[in-house]
Amino acid sequence: MKFHVITIFPNLFDSYLNDSIMKRAIESGKISVHFYNPRDFTQNKHNKVDDIPYGGGPGMIMTVDPIIRAWSAARYQGAQNKIMRILTTGRIDGGRKFKTIILSPGGVDFTTDYAKHAVQDYTDIIFICGRYEGIDARVAQIIGEQAESVSIGNYVLTGGELAAMVMIDSLSRQVDGVLGNSDSLEEERISSHEMYTRPAEYKHKNTIYSVPQVLMEGNHKLIDEWRKNH
Ligand code: 6GU
Repeated sequence: MKFHVITIFPNLFDSYLNDSIMKRAIESGKISVHFYNPRDFTQNKHNKVDDIPYGGGPGMIMTVDPIIRAWSAARYQGAQNKIMRILTTGRIDGGRKFKTIILSPGGVDFTTDYAKHAVQDYTDIIFICGRYEGIDARVAQIIGEQAESVSIGNYVLTGGELAAMVMIDSLSRQVDGVLGNSDSLEEERISSHEMYTRPAEYKHKNTIYSVPQVLMEGNHKLIDEWRKNH
């Protein structure tokens, strides 16, 4: 799975992608993350990427042109070889399937189901991260039906970068081979069960906190039953 991130703050992604499971997933080639900074695609003298809103109001809006140029770079990378590729593979885009996600607190809900389907349906996901008060609506109009506004929850963040990182994490879990043990991908178990590890008894302020006996006895029928209710 290839992730393409359009952001004016690519450094925000560094620490998360350079450690733990994300780092391993990148090093093993299961996922890759590419950055496109709208500021690098500006055509004005001061590399300006925002402007005041039409109709008035507070804050600044990210302008169409640098974002669309950055998006085109992500969408049509290596476009000069495109005709060659179509001739040799017979496939437009070499069989790649693109989806564009516009990070927006007003978008559709991002869920584990969304992640599962996205990983099945697409080879490339482009994230467009807005800062300031938002992105000029014509970005979505130009990209068309391939674009979707998506939100990670009912709260407002100062920019789309954290939300994109959350989605990259959740999507990557669904990519084959990213989690070492395929059993780890039991979302229901992870999200609904009380879990315990050693020690079997933990003392805190004169109280002993014990692991439920059933989990230590190895009767898997009883364990499954217990887990359904905890
Ligand atoms: Cl995708 N963006 C922003 N700015 N805030 C959010 C969000 C996205 N999802 C929840 N809150």
